[in-house]
Amino acid sequence: MTNQGAAVANAPAKINLYLHVTGKRADGYHLLDSLIAFAGTGDTIEASPADTITLSCDGPFGAALASEPDNLVLKAARMLAGQAGIANGAALRLTKRLPIASGIGGGSADAAATLRALAQLWQLTLAPDEMQKIAARLGADVPICLHGRAAYIGGIGEIIADTAALPEAGIVLVNPGKSLSTPAVFKNFCGPMSAAKRFDSMPLSTHALCELLATRSNDLTEAAVALVPEIADVLAALAQTPGALLARMSGSGATCFALFDDSLGAARAAKDLAMRQPSWWVQGAALISSHP
Ligand code: C5P
Repeated sequence: MTNQGAAVANAPAKINLYLHVTGKRADGYHLLDSLIAFAGTGDTIEASPADTITLSCDGPFGAALASEPDNLVLKAARMLAGQAGIANGAALRLTKRLPIASGIGGGSADAAATLRALAQLWQLTLAPDEMQKIAARLGADVPICLHGRAAYIGGIGEIIADTAALPEAGIVLVNPGKSLSTPAVFKNFCGPMSAAKRFDSMPLSTHALCELLATRSNDLTEAAVALVPEIADVLAALAQTPGALLARMSGSGATCFALFDDSLGAARAAKDLAMRQPSWWVQGAALISSHP
């Protein structure tokens, strides 16, 4: 139940439909070209008035986070308060439905949702580009999560170029129950670098979208599979699922996804796969181009 006077923000899963690593900066960060969309499933942040900034976690993966002393949600809240000169606190409640450290935004989506919820609770009037600067300081994926609309990302993730809405599609997300550290995957990546490969225009059908995506890749897959070999099993299972149009890993893994004609087909496939692989986290949803 939502507390009275609370501001609520959704933190949907972020999906890298393709992810090309195009170069490496002198500071070690990698340059990317990636098409991002979201899934109609994710975490929720609720911010209620309070004197100090506190965080409680619930939901299926809440307990796994409770042991982390200083996660990205608290960092985001403190950074926003500092930037906006806010003396008030907030009681933050994170309902964690997405697996931790899993390549679908998780912590970054939560941080972005925290910024949105607190801007509403504290009635801030920071300009969008000021909010984006705070997001970029929190992590490379936070700006696109704050943006909240399908877009290409460039640079290390902070350069956002809007795209037309994606065609309607369903998505099944699968995680083999293994968390994977993003820095470890990037460290394990040894090339080759790819060229940026943005679409000339957004296809109108899901089938045409998947045909274009099939000529692109997630360049981090091999580096991630070397650390968590189960990713290869997940990709094989998704590819063999009836109705799956494309199977791919998202971000630095270990979560993989398959695209379907619609969310009904995705829900059916998710149910079947969850029965066959009860130890995996399996979730069916709609692929979404924007969220509030
Ligand atoms: O920015 P964030 O904290 O999410 O990044 C975690 C780590 O992932 C970085 O310290 C870096 O090692 C790696 N990374 C990278 N290139 C990116 C994004 C992240 O090398 N574009």
